[in-house]
Amino acid sequence: MHKFGKAIRGRWLLDEDVAFMNHGSFGACPRDVLVAQSEWRNKMERQLVRFLTVEAPLGLKDSLTKLGAFVGAKESDIVFVDNATTGVNAVVRSLMPTFKPGDELFTTTHVYGAMRKTLHYAADVTGAKVVEATIPFPIQSADQVVEIVKKGITDKTKFAIIDHVTSPSALVYPIERIIPLFKERGIPVMIDGAHALGMLPINMEKYGADFYTGNCHKWLYAPKGSAFLYVDPKHQKNIHPTNISHNYLTSFKSEFDWVGTHDPTAWLSVSAALGFIEEIGVNDMRSYGHKLALEARKMLAKSWGVDTVAPEDMIGMLATLKLPGNPKDNDKHTATFHDRLRDEFHCELPVIVMGDATYVRISAQVYNDMSEYERLDAAIKKIYS
Ligand SMILES: Cc1ncc(COP(=O)(O)O)c(C=O)c1O
Repeated sequence: MHKFGKAIRGRWLLDEDVAFMNHGSFGACPRDVLVAQSEWRNKMERQLVRFLTVEAPLGLKDSLTKLGAFVGAKESDIVFVDNATTGVNAVVRSLMPTFKPGDELFTTTHVYGAMRKTLHYAADVTGAKVVEATIPFPIQSADQVVEIVKKGITDKTKFAIIDHVTSPSALVYPIERIIPLFKERGIPVMIDGAHALGMLPINMEKYGADFYTGNCHKWLYAPKGSAFLYVDPKHQKNIHPTNISHNYLTSFKSEFDWVGTHDPTAWLSVSAALGFIEEIGVNDMRSYGHKLALEARKMLAKSWGVDTVAPEDMIGMLATLKLPGNPKDNDKHTATFHDRLRDEFHCELPVIVMGDATYVRISAQVYNDMSEYERLDAAIKKIYS
């Protein structure tokens, strides 16, 4: 019997009767990591002041050092933030005073909605404009992304946000080839790696991006409210957290260490999450999830008579699939369709509209197995019958 799938599912609190195919949205934290977090919280509540001033800083340094080794960054170049949205906001709002009317803030049409809005906020305040390069979907190859991004950069491009793994379309972008397109023109580029941390091997020093943020609470198994922000040393003095607090203008690290009173136990538990990954085997985890995502999408696409929409080398542990048709009248809102899949068929996964088509996005985590995608297949067939 394989060590993953049903054999490992008991290490999560997930409801047994749910086919949970949505690790992607908010992750799912293993019991052991939650226990570690509770232990930190209990310690905190026993002597709160000592904890926040002495023990937590030491524990956070330990957690960040281990995370740095995992993501190929020096501990001095990364900070914890609550989520990728906070990481992107810190960078965009810090750079905002340098944006002026006519400047172009570059991204692609697959950008995560919250980041699109953050760019629009910066554009509204400064007179810059948001430019989205249109990435086709279905897509034939990663080369297309590189070519389209290259063509979209202009003399007015001032800053760019590029996803590492896109949210609605679940595509792995070839960021190693995209980052240099901006760097060679001296344009600061930020990578939104919300899904990439844990799912893919990532390396800050190798990428050479100006900024990178990744969620620990998705594919790294850490508790909710944990993410990291990498800032190239040359930018660190100009990047501030969105919450300005006591440590303003002390140092990059200390500004982010204190952004107001906050429960640091999710960040402290990143160390336990990394321990969990080490125990199950990071390569085994990635290979199981990747193969399962490919196998499940192949089975579903065949059964629904639809195209697989992206080449295999653009798939990690997430895959987006076109539904056999748009939801019928009684399910026409994606929320209703989603709720029906959840409540009637016990399948949890996002339903997404892109262009004039409706899609579902499956996640493949070590606690999933094919029987869950087969349940989804049966549900969709029943709905469309
Ligand atoms: C590409 C991408 N960026 C950012 C986020 C936002 O993550 P958070 O809500 O943790 O900030 C998500 C969430 O799914 C995402 O898919």
